[in-house]
Amino acid sequence: MDKIVIEGGTPLRGEIAISGAKNAALPLICACLLAPGPHILENVPDLRDVRTMLALLEALGATWKRDGATLTIDTANLNSFEASYDLVKTMRASVLVLGPLLARLGRARVSLPGGCAIGARPINFHLQGFKRLGVSHQLEDGYVDAVVDGQMVGATICFDFPSVTATENILMGAVMARGETVIKNAAREPEIANLVDMLNGMGARIRGRGGDTLLIEGVTRLRSARIRIVPDRIETGTLLIAVGATGGELSLSNGDSTMLPALYAKLRAAGVRVREDQDRVHVAGNGVVRAVDIKTMPYPGFPTDLQAQMMALMCFGQGLSLITETIFENRFMHVAELRRMGADIRINGPSAIVSGVGKLRGARVMATDLRASASLVIAGLAAEGLTQISRVYHLDRGYDDLVGKLSRVGAKIHREAE
Ligand code: EPU
Repeated sequence: MDKIVIEGGTPLRGEIAISGAKNAALPLICACLLAPGPHILENVPDLRDVRTMLALLEALGATWKRDGATLTIDTANLNSFEASYDLVKTMRASVLVLGPLLARLGRARVSLPGGCAIGARPINFHLQGFKRLGVSHQLEDGYVDAVVDGQMVGATICFDFPSVTATENILMGAVMARGETVIKNAAREPEIANLVDMLNGMGARIRGRGGDTLLIEGVTRLRSARIRIVPDRIETGTLLIAVGATGGELSLSNGDSTMLPALYAKLRAAGVRVREDQDRVHVAGNGVVRAVDIKTMPYPGFPTDLQAQMMALMCFGQGLSLITETIFENRFMHVAELRRMGADIRINGPSAIVSGVGKLRGARVMATDLRASASLVIAGLAAEGLTQISRVYHLDRGYDDLVGKLSRVGAKIHREAE
């Protein structure tokens, strides 16, 4: 297994091209199950989670080929409706096959995902939504066995909370239901708008793109898709925060500067210069960080997927920063690791109180989940001395060549066999 070794203290300078978004690629790959294809997805990031999702599609009978960042997926000959425990346990997003399989085959057997490092993460909103559409399910041997009773029929579904993957799953399930489905309190993340664009391009009739109410008028069949995956706003945000911590100047290309309003506001308040320019974001920092408070919220609020990285930045500041996590109940695993580098952080229920200590010292630390790994990379880039991060497979799940990208803009970072 590899570890990441970082010699901290070098400002980042240059240009980085942002990859396609993991959290758009995964649902869009699943949406290919809705019609035989071939479907063409462009700007697909090279990630472990994407490879896992393709393995799952293969297990269902699909074929695919990759040419650079372009994926061609053919789902003409589906021969299974089961997502096995082995695949679901490594990637919870596997549950996104539920909607498309029910829509296309009328049946799906999907392993119930367990809890994970960041929280319990049940799928009750998904199952309650499908029930409203006429799907019955039972739980057997840890699997959800779901069957459409006759035909799926449109209904109004109101989520208790705007869940990202529940919104995506119900959208994909409802596109071929009879009549109209209304999703209220839908999640509004840009990756969902990307999915709506793909589905409408396939012939679906969805209105309300980007809003909290989605109206889906069922159609009888869908055609092949050709769609570009939106840029990864979490990769973008991670790199912006990194420059805040290390100082220097970066230009991020191939992005979408409209996707991170809450982060820009917080970075500016922290003294980091951010300039938006259509498909580019420019960032400059001088290593001086002011304390800001953060509260994670559904989009367009501050993303939970950038909370750990922002906490690392706050360690380099002066003063107190209150960081409140409202989306997941256990997303502070990085705190203990940051403390090993000299951070002063106290946890009080859903909040962490960071007392800026101005600098951190390199240490051996362990990655516990994807975004926690990214926060340790940021801490290591700006810390004094050597940081070694083990269990980097977490990082490989969701960042496309982060080590290569950072080393090309001056960071002293490399991978090494452990
Ligand atoms: N929730 C329920 N019941 C449900 C669904 C969700 O109680 O049926 C709760 C969750 O436990 C959580 C909250 O609702 O407390 C929000 O969870 P949501 O369903 O929105 O999260 P998700 O769809 O499972 C996606 C991303 C996550 C990201 C969250 C929040 C994908 C594949 N995953 O997860 O990404 O943190 O939305 O924005 O899109 C990551 O990339 O590192 C990552 C974890």
